[in-house]
Amino acid sequence: MNPIPLVDLKVQYQAHKQEFDDAIAGCLAQTSFIGGPDHEAFAAEFAEWCGGGHVALVGNGTQALEFALRELLGPGDGVGEVITTSHNFIATGEAISAAGYKPVFVEVDAETCLMDSDALEVAIRPNTRAVLPVHLYGQMVEMNKVMSVAQHHGLKVIEDAAQAHGAGWQGKCPGEWGDAACFSFYPGKNLGAWGDGGAVFTRDADLAARIARYADHGREDKYRHPWPGTNSRLDGLQAAVLRVKLRHLDAWNDARRQVASWYDELLEGEEAVERIKNREDAIHARHLYVVQVDDRDQVLATLKEKGIHAGVHYPIPLHEQPVFSGLGYALDDLPITATVARRVLSLPLYPELGRADVERVVSTLKEALPL
Ligand SMILES: Cc1ncc(COP(=O)(O)O)c(C=O)c1O
Repeated sequence: MNPIPLVDLKVQYQAHKQEFDDAIAGCLAQTSFIGGPDHEAFAAEFAEWCGGGHVALVGNGTQALEFALRELLGPGDGVGEVITTSHNFIATGEAISAAGYKPVFVEVDAETCLMDSDALEVAIRPNTRAVLPVHLYGQMVEMNKVMSVAQHHGLKVIEDAAQAHGAGWQGKCPGEWGDAACFSFYPGKNLGAWGDGGAVFTRDADLAARIARYADHGREDKYRHPWPGTNSRLDGLQAAVLRVKLRHLDAWNDARRQVASWYDELLEGEEAVERIKNREDAIHARHLYVVQVDDRDQVLATLKEKGIHAGVHYPIPLHEQPVFSGLGYALDDLPITATVARRVLSLPLYPELGRADVERVVSTLKEALPL
């Protein structure tokens, strides 16, 4: 039997090959490799799709976070703190450090694996500068609560929306709650480029302009540089690809939701498989379909033997990462995070996945569960 991959980008490419070929040919004909019409058009189209506002396109999602922090808070001196969660990909912690701030990790809610807003409140100290909620797996953090805590303490809020293109909370999208939302266009994301890419969406035109110019050498014109900067640009070919994909994104997100609903239906009543809770206020973008099981590594290995390629997002929490050992966390400081990291398992999910494959994943998973 054919293996079922975690993500399948080939099928998407084949389905829309002509559109991609035309878009690439258009960009090549203009030789607009840095900046240019596709870059400008994609920034405007993505801002519109995010709910209306401003977009700064950058080289990747990690730097989207770094630059948003830097421009909202000013470059840090290692003392100011930014509160986020430890159950996450390393990028968020890296971005906080790169902007000159100290990451402070708080617990997640065991049912959603998202920032626990009560834990956030407790973690606020005189050096706290910002809150960085991570909309993991495609579900937004309870932003009404995060915003009320942040506003009460006068803190900036930068949303990590790398996995949340198309997510909502109480009818509002990422970036409509906080000061800015940072997206990744890593190929496997809901909106993925053919390489690296990222964006900051914000309702603040000046902030978007500052981030865009920081990402382009802090230039005023070609050889005049009044501001600090670096080189982190989304190139024209990526923008051309992303413009094609943006046209299909709503339909793809709906297809992801359909796949997730099949998993929900087929796993209903299976007590050994704890599904991530989908909160009522959330519109889930279904970037990943994650369950929690005992003996996760054995289950993962058995699935692989039977041709089902599941994944783990993420096995080592940030506070346990050697690179952050200097922050002084003990292994048992975040027990919910540590437990979740041992139990999470991501099942195959992509828009084109069919019902029969989902049935095969679920029946194989049931056989692989510990007795
Ligand atoms: C939650 C989260 N934050 C940040 C990033 C960083 O994005 P990038 O890989 O584009 O730098 C990613 C993706 O890789 C992510 O999943």
